Amino acid sequence: MNNAAIEVRPMTPRIGAEIFGVDLAKPLGNQQFQEIHDALMAHQVIFFRDQAMDLEQHKAFGRRFGELHIHPGSPGPEGHPEILIIHGDAKSKRVAGEVWHSDVSCDPEPPMASILHINTLPEVGGDTLFASMYAAYEALSEPMQQFVGGLTAIHSGEHVYRGRYKDRGVDDAAKVYPEAEHPVVRTHPVTRRKGLYVNFGFTTRIKQLKRPESDALLRFLCEHATKPEFHCRFRWRKNSVAFWDNRCVQHQAMWDYFPQTRSGFRVTIKGDKPF
Ligand code: SIN
Repeated sequence: MNNAAIEVRPMTPRIGAEIFGVDLAKPLGNQQFQEIHDALMAHQVIFFRDQAMDLEQHKAFGRRFGELHIHPGSPGPEGHPEILIIHGDAKSKRVAGEVWHSDVSCDPEPPMASILHINTLPEVGGDTLFASMYAAYEALSEPMQQFVGGLTAIHSGEHVYRGRYKDRGVDDAAKVYPEAEHPVVRTHPVTRRKGLYVNFGFTTRIKQLKRPESDALLRFLCEHATKPEFHCRFRWRKNSVAFWDNRCVQHQAMWDYFPQTRSGFRVTIKGDKPF
């Protein structure tokens, strides 16, 4: 059982912190659970080093924070439907997360957080970028905050997932992928801070606007959301873990290592309806 106090070292003033003094393969004591939870709320994405975990330990860590989410398209490894395989190699035509996004934002109740454990890395490259949607929202002018605060947007899984897992034996001809309408600005249920909630990956249109207006505003907001001043960038090592809050963070996986291999597993925690 983990009981010692953790150390939290912020990576930037806006987003990201490294956490020391915890072994994620062991059950978390209540104090460590609370400290990790609080660090996630304060820094939006937190990172751990040197965490040798198997799939059961990974799932047990995730379950401490909530029920696990099952991906609408990607099959997990045999016996582990709650695990998302993250893999890129010389045969890959694409990798997960290349486009800025918040995980599965097309779900009516999108995942609240994701925990990625990387076990195989290229010599260099394969970093992940994270952007604070609080910082993106707070950087907008007040009239723009007012305007976008009254809008909702459609998030769709169809163009993202259709046919995508064919090479892993998935026939999705009869499948209906999720689509949902969410506020363009969501309030975080724990911190009560407001953050932008539209992304390049899933958001297809703003409901109240005409198509050209929607296209222009979405492009502006999605580009704004991914400005470097709202970022931190994580350089992985074997057995690093990233734990991000999808309610206030977008991320992008950098596929700059082709044809080398990068592999790991993600556990995703269920969330609730954005408001
Ligand atoms: C993802 O979960 O979207 C992939 C992130 C990564 O591979 O770094």
